[in-house]
Amino acid sequence: MAKKIAVIGTGYVGLVTSVGLSDFGNYVVGVDINAKIVDKLNGGTPTIFEHGLEEYLQRNLKTKRLSFTTDIDSALKSAEIVFLAVGTPPKDDGSADLTQIQTVVQSIAKNINAFQVIVTKSTVPVGTNRWIEKQLTAAAPGKDFAVVSNPEFLREGKAVQDFFHPDRIVLGCESDLAREYMEDVYRALNLIHVPVVWCNLETAELIKYASNAFLATKITYINQMANLAEAVGADIHVVARSMGMDGRISPKFLHPGPGYGGSCFPKDTKAIAATGDEFGVDMSVIKEVVRANEKQKARVADRLAFLTGTVKGKTICVLGLAFKAETDDVRESPALTIVERLLELGAVIHAHDPEAMANFRFYLGEQPGDQIRYFDTSLEAAVGADALLIVTEWNEYRNLDLESIRERMRGDVIYDTRNVLDADKARDLGFTYAGIGRS
Ligand code: UDX
Repeated sequence: MAKKIAVIGTGYVGLVTSVGLSDFGNYVVGVDINAKIVDKLNGGTPTIFEHGLEEYLQRNLKTKRLSFTTDIDSALKSAEIVFLAVGTPPKDDGSADLTQIQTVVQSIAKNINAFQVIVTKSTVPVGTNRWIEKQLTAAAPGKDFAVVSNPEFLREGKAVQDFFHPDRIVLGCESDLAREYMEDVYRALNLIHVPVVWCNLETAELIKYASNAFLATKITYINQMANLAEAVGADIHVVARSMGMDGRISPKFLHPGPGYGGSCFPKDTKAIAATGDEFGVDMSVIKEVVRANEKQKARVADRLAFLTGTVKGKTICVLGLAFKAETDDVRESPALTIVERLLELGAVIHAHDPEAMANFRFYLGEQPGDQIRYFDTSLEAAVGADALLIVTEWNEYRNLDLESIRERMRGDVIYDTRNVLDADKARDLGFTYAGIGRS
């Protein structure tokens, strides 16, 4: 039977979850403290850039199964299930800041009247769901509830697709009644035979961190292998493709680049390392991944300096500011580290990104003088540049009009940290082309 659901938080996870669960036939109220966000969403306009989201949002608003509100109390009072999708940003020591979760748990305790299932979607450190259980027992004695851990594995840019076609659903659930509720919530996915993993709270929490840390490790591994391939004269793409032919390895997440970024991998790797420290367990592999990823980002500016002789006083055309293609998100984007370093070294930046320029400008902060300028097109950004640096693998950069770019640039260096260009064609046009993991 369709369930009445409140989703607390309308960020990436909360919004996609709200829209997706209502599309499954449930009645969903999305809650956010920001009235502007709520108004926008109720008007059918997504607050994040995500393929397909607008259509699903509008479709479900129309059915009246989906709405958004700032009134958390009324949303909680009428909900059978509450999804927690608030932020858990990293603190200075890498551990997760749970202030927002704590505030919501207090609101739940205040409003709970009948049996309620509290589902944690936010990525929270191992042990947090048990802690939520204890907090609620203490704050709402005698009330009937169950806590469920339901980590999400959505990728930005593909979040809608991932929501409707997940590889698996993980449910840390220790109550039979809550299990029946969760089976109802996700019933629509039975049709496509999505496997469901039922386990205890701690196992579900650890699955999320173990998966993300593993993927971050895989990327870091191929990045280091790419650096070695450059040094010894091998081609990393042939290496990666052949590695991927081994079914035990798989070809996914073996694309070398300027280092991983985004809202998950950098945060989750640090958080699981902090959990290891807390329990006195050696997490040296993950700690080394975090360190190596920082080095990979720093290496880009150094290598560009090597390719151009010096970047001081040079104009660098930076194509791609988002942490990956198909998103306007710049959180922990390698481009931030790289541009900051290039500015420090005295370069002038001509920046372009199809979606992420406004966010980048905000995260980078004001820069003195005219050291960084933003352009609407890559061709405009290339005018007068000494070097062209590709940081994000947007499709439009795969088909750059290199001839026109060559005419507009002052220098001839291309450093393609995603290997999106045709190296031979670039060299034929007279560019000094360097990719990643290719000599
Ligand atoms: C990730 C996880 O994939 C997702 O399951 C989780 O829920 C949230 O974190 P996301 O951060 O959206 O998703 O992006 P993802 O596509 O995983 O890429 C993360 C970073 O790794 C990006 O900076 C990307 O450019 C980089 N990456 C990815 C590589 O450098 N090489 C690869 O082969 C894959």
